[in-house]
Formats: sequence, structure tokens, C-alpha cells
Amino acid sequence: MKSIAASFIAILLTVSVFAQSDYTAKAKALLAKMTTEEKIGQLNLVTPGGGVATGSVVSQDVETKIKKGQVGGLFGIFGPEKVRQAQDLAVKNSRLHIPLIFGLDVIHGHKTIFPIPLGLSSSWDLGLIEKSARIAATEASADGLQWAFSPMVDIARDARWGRISEGNGEDPWLGGQIAKAMVRGYQGKDLSANNNIMACVKHFALYGAAEAGREYNTVDMSRVKMYEYYLPPYKAAVEAGAGSIMSSFNEIDAVPATGNKWLLTDLLRKQWGFKGFVVSDYTSLNEMTNHGIGDLQTVAARALNAGLDMDMVGEGMLTTLGKSLKEGKVTMAQIDAACLRILEAKFKLGLFDNPYKYVDESRPAKDILTNETRKASREIATHSMVLLKNANQLLPLRKSGTIALVGPLADNKRNMLGTWVVAGDWTKSVSVAEGIKNVAPAANIIYAKGANISDDSMLVKNANALGVEIEPEQQSAEAMLNDALAAANKADVVVAVLGEAADMSGESSSRSDIGLPESQLNLLKALVKTGKPIVLVLINGRPLTLTWEDAHVPAILEAWAPGTEAGNAIADVLFGDYNPSGKITATFPRSVGQIPIYYNHKNTGRPYDGKGSGKFKSYYMDISNDPLYPFGYGLSYTSFSYGSLSADKHSLKGNETLTCSIPVTNTGKFAGEETVQWYITDPVASITRSVEDLKGFQKVWLQPGETKVISFKITTADLKFYNGDLKYDWEPGEFIIRAGTNSASTQSVSVQWNKK
Ligand code: NOJ
Repeated sequence: MKSIAASFIAILLTVSVFAQSDYTAKAKALLAKMTTEEKIGQLNLVTPGGGVATGSVVSQDVETKIKKGQVGGLFGIFGPEKVRQAQDLAVKNSRLHIPLIFGLDVIHGHKTIFPIPLGLSSSWDLGLIEKSARIAATEASADGLQWAFSPMVDIARDARWGRISEGNGEDPWLGGQIAKAMVRGYQGKDLSANNNIMACVKHFALYGAAEAGREYNTVDMSRVKMYEYYLPPYKAAVEAGAGSIMSSFNEIDAVPATGNKWLLTDLLRKQWGFKGFVVSDYTSLNEMTNHGIGDLQTVAARALNAGLDMDMVGEGMLTTLGKSLKEGKVTMAQIDAACLRILEAKFKLGLFDNPYKYVDESRPAKDILTNETRKASREIATHSMVLLKNANQLLPLRKSGTIALVGPLADNKRNMLGTWVVAGDWTKSVSVAEGIKNVAPAANIIYAKGANISDDSMLVKNANALGVEIEPEQQSAEAMLNDALAAANKADVVVAVLGEAADMSGESSSRSDIGLPESQLNLLKALVKTGKPIVLVLINGRPLTLTWEDAHVPAILEAWAPGTEAGNAIADVLFGDYNPSGKITATFPRSVGQIPIYYNHKNTGRPYDGKGSGKFKSYYMDISNDPLYPFGYGLSYTSFSYGSLSADKHSLKGNETLTCSIPVTNTGKFAGEETVQWYITDPVASITRSVEDLKGFQKVWLQPGETKVISFKITTADLKFYNGDLKYDWEPGEFIIRAGTNSASTQSVSVQWNKK
């Protein structure tokens, strides 16, 4: 009996192992037929131009190389026709007919553009975030693509860094939840369907911690800080099954990520069990020479040794690995391993079954930029906006009366999509002026631009590097201002739409001053002097310093770069068709001097509580320690009040579960949604811990007067952290559970949690 059962189990195991590694077996069989040159060719990712070149070179002789089997993948082109042509070159002309993989920077939508990721994260709505990635996958796959260079999950605590716009803010736990949602959205249940595409998690790793917020700059960080705060979102994406990972430009422990064996092999593959392939960032392999660790041949060998599988654009692998193999600097086994991973990915995507699986000329018209996708973009954009201030309930506005609509972003389509939009067409976006007309047709709108986005020639030149986003007017600054003041004086309310041009955030868009540009601040100050009620709508890609604005402007709506349906979504919120519910996921500092500033900081030995003299305490002489708007902050047109927080136990043992509850009441006049946030503090541990860490949240929809009791279950999994030995565990003792409307406004309850 026993032996029959045992052999039955053995058969089952064989069958399932075979099913799982089916594509591995096929990839190995193909590998056995390949020459060394063909194997190295698969490691080569090129761009023929036509996309956005994010480095100083674009690939040459792409056609010839594809035919010779010297290219594994292509990025930067899209559309079934173009993809078919390129795929033909590989499938019909190369010796082994190996299909190419086609990638693109599909970041916050493909052609239907959603809010920038920092905005998406502010929705705290994992379902909507997943939906945005799903729509992006459907559109991208309809355009011939099967590989998105997304999600970008870099934690950022420095708003000077322009790419804070591309990520999900500062919290590792929320960042991990969003990373998983994005991977699910792109990849679906598996990659066999022709509308699921492979995710590429980036930038591995720690890219958001660039010193001084300056792009591509050095990163230097303790292991504990990495494991606890910066690595969790990448790990979450790997656990969600992301098919590929992109190495980052920065160094880690004095070795650039692209050639860092500890990172790409020990951590990623051995500790985390990652099974997909790793691609470099744009020429990041070659750039290791600038970092100072050797010539091209040396760094290419080092990258392969470290665990890099694919080389983006720089062709360092293509041009030197053959030589390194002969000289014994790399082994055939290493080349095989890298090639195998890329072939496996192509098998997983079904490209060997049908290289044209994603090429269907009838799909774009059906799947891209449809009424449905636009509707989704509008809905998601409304959920991403954050109401930062609303004195005297100035918002929502009436859909009547006279509105002065002013500002360089008020009647502007060009800057509504935000950064990193390769395939999106800004001419198809809805301006705020159009949106207001659509949503409040009875309102009388007087428009005046009022100011240029910036008059600073250096900033204008740099923001316009990829196309004209800031178009300075012929009119003088004074004449523009006078027009705006005349409009304001005739109006019941002023809506000022100000902020950043699309490429004032994003890659290579670091700013040392993150306030509104002077031209716009001057306009705003003059508008405030008119005494008219002013609503400031912000279009921007990072936390801004808004200290003056917060003190002088009654209503502030952070709209981010909202995407294709920008104007409609903004109008939905301004006129109350949607009651804003977003909460910021990156702290807004009072001044640049406070940076880096983030909620989950450590305590010092000399903390300052803001009371009395700060002498010999950890403080600034000239500014408070507190941010302007803390992590998790965001208002609603209604108000929510929190009852008392309670815990079902105050003393727990081992694997018990603690349930904490808090009643939340809608005490205002509008139905609305609150995001109840749960934080945990571990006041005494073997190493220092942050003052609090986000561990959960719930979104609750309440009618006026309605109360709901919100509960949160906590297990020891929520108490774990990486200790001094990098062991992930919890330590017994006191824990403080906090619940509230943002990270700086919580109630707390203390419990004792022992091992036995
Ligand atoms: C450089 C960027 O860092 C990366 O995010 C992007 O995917 C590549 N360029 C390809 O465009």
C-alpha cells in the first residue's frame, strides 16, 4: 500500500515539476543548438530610436544585428506594424529564428495616461492602481509589446530627486502593496494570455537614495536601513512573480548595482529566490567605467559575473564577452545561464509558439484610448488628488457665477500627462479650462495665463530638453499679471492652476529649490492681494515647499500630473462631483533645508518636542522639525471624527492575534471616503527602530452622520523587523498600536506581547 501511495506521489511530483519547468526544458534544448555568438546576442537589448533616448547614444545597425542573431530584444518602438517588421527580421532572417522581446517604458499608462505614480499611490486604492496597470497592459499588448519597464518601486525621501514622481513615496510597506498590485495588473494570472505583459521592477536597488537628491548620484547605506526601508518593495514585487528586474545606475557598497554580485546574485537570487532575468538600465553597464571600476571589457565581465543577464543599449556584453570567454574572464556556464533566463522569458510569453502573438493590427482601434479607458483614467485621477487645505469650506465650488481661471497650467494640455510618457499623446489630454467647461457649463469663466511656468532661462532650457513644455509668452510679465488681476477682480472666485512643467520632475530633473517658480509665486501673491477667494490647483510631480501658500491661500488641491483626463478629473473634484480622498505618500517639507524628511524616522538621543528652548536638542534654530504636511495627510469636503481606540487584549503571547478597533464618524455634510491608517511603534528593541511604521490601512465610505467601527488584526508578522544580524524577527515587550487619519495624528494603545 505504502509503495503504491509513494509512487503515486512521485508521479504527481514529476508531472508538476515537468509542467513548471517545461519552458526551461525547451529553452535548454534551444540553447544546445546555439553558437556562443548567438547566446551573447540574446543578452543584447537595443533601441532603434523613436522612443525617448535616456542616454547619449542610440543603437546603430539594428537591422543587420537582428538578422545576425545579435539582438535579444528591442525597446522604443511600438505599434503592430513596426513590431511585425522587426519581428520578421529575427524570425525570418536569423539562423535560429529566435523571436525578439519588445519592451517599452509603459509607466503610468501606455496611451491612456493615468496620474503619475506618486499621484496613483496617493489614492491608497490598490484596486484602482491594479486597474491602471491592467489597462496599460491591454493597450501596450495591443500595440505589439509584451514587456513594460515598470513598476518603479524606489523608495524616496528626498523631493529634490525628480524621480520621486515615478515611485510610490516613502513608505516601504505601502510601496510593497502597490508593487504587488502593479505586477498583478501587468502580468495577470500568468503570461500566457496575449493581453498580459511582463513587468520589469526597477531600479534595483536603492536608486531613490541618491545623495543630495541629485540624479544618478552615489548611494551609501547601512544594511539594516536597506533591508528595513528600501528593499521591501522590490522584494514584494519579486514575491508577486515579476518576470524581470532592472538594475539601477547607482552604486551600493562602492560597487555599481549593474556589477554588484551581492545585489544581483546573493540577495536577489539566493535570498529572495528570483527566477526571472535582470536587465541593466540604459548604458549603466558601460557607465561602470565612469564609476571607476575598469574598462568596457572588465565591467561587462563583471556584470555577467554579478548576475546581469541583459545589457541595455551599451553593447558592452555583445562586443566584449567573446574575448573575455577566450581569456577565461567569464565562463560558458555564465553565458548559458544568462541566455537561458532570457529564452525562458520568451517561452513564458508564448513567443516561440507564436512570435506574432501580440501583433494584431485590429487591436489598437478596439483596445487603445477608448471611452472606457478614458473613463477609468478620469476616475483614477479623481481618487489620486489630495486636498491639502480648505479653509471655510471654500471648496467645492458652485457650478455658477464667475470664475477667474488663471495660471500657466490652466489652459494647458502639454503638461497634463506628467513625466515618462513615451506613447501618450498630450494633444489628446483634457485641459483644466476644457474640464471646467464640461463639468460646469453654466459657470462664467474668464481665463488669463497670468505668468509663464518659469522665467528662469536655465530652468526653462532644462525643462524643454525633450520638447517645448514651457512656452514663454511675447507679452511682458507685467502685462500678463495685469490681465490676471483684471480677471480676478471681475470674479467671485479665482482658480489658479500652477505648478511644474511635466519634465520638471522625472529622470534627470532634480531641483535644488522645490517651491513654485518665482514667476508663478509672484502671480499668486498678487492674486492674494486682491482679497478674492483663491483656490490653488497644483499640477506637479513632487512634494513642493508650500509654506507661504499654506499660510495665505484658503484652498489648495494637489492634483499631480493627472493624465489624459486631467481637466475633467480636476473639475469633478473642484465642483464636488467627487469628494477628494487622496492622502500624500511623501512628506511635504516646510523648506528644502529639512530634507531628507520622512515620517518613519528614528528618535535621537536628544529629541525635541517643539516646546520650550531647543538648545542642545535635535532641532533647527530657524524652523520647526515638523513637516508642512505629514505622510498620510489629506482632507475631504466632509469631516471625520475618530472615537476611542481600543484593543481586545493588553497582554498577548506568541502567535495570538490582537484586534484593535476604532469608530469613525462622518461629521460633515458630504458623503466621503476616509483612509484609516494603522501604525506600530516598537519602543524598546535590540536595535533602534523608527518612531512608527505603517502596517495597514482601510478605506471606509461614510454617509453624513454615519459611523463605522474599523478593526485591524495584528499578528507577530506585523511586529517583525530586520535586527542587527539582518534576521527578520520580532522581539517581545511593549508595542504601541496607533490609528488615525495621518501619520502625525493618531491615537494609541499599548500592549505587552511576550513570546510565551
Ligand atoms: C533610463 C531609466 O532610468 C529607466 O527607468 C528606463 O526604463 C530606461 N532609461 C529605458 O528608457
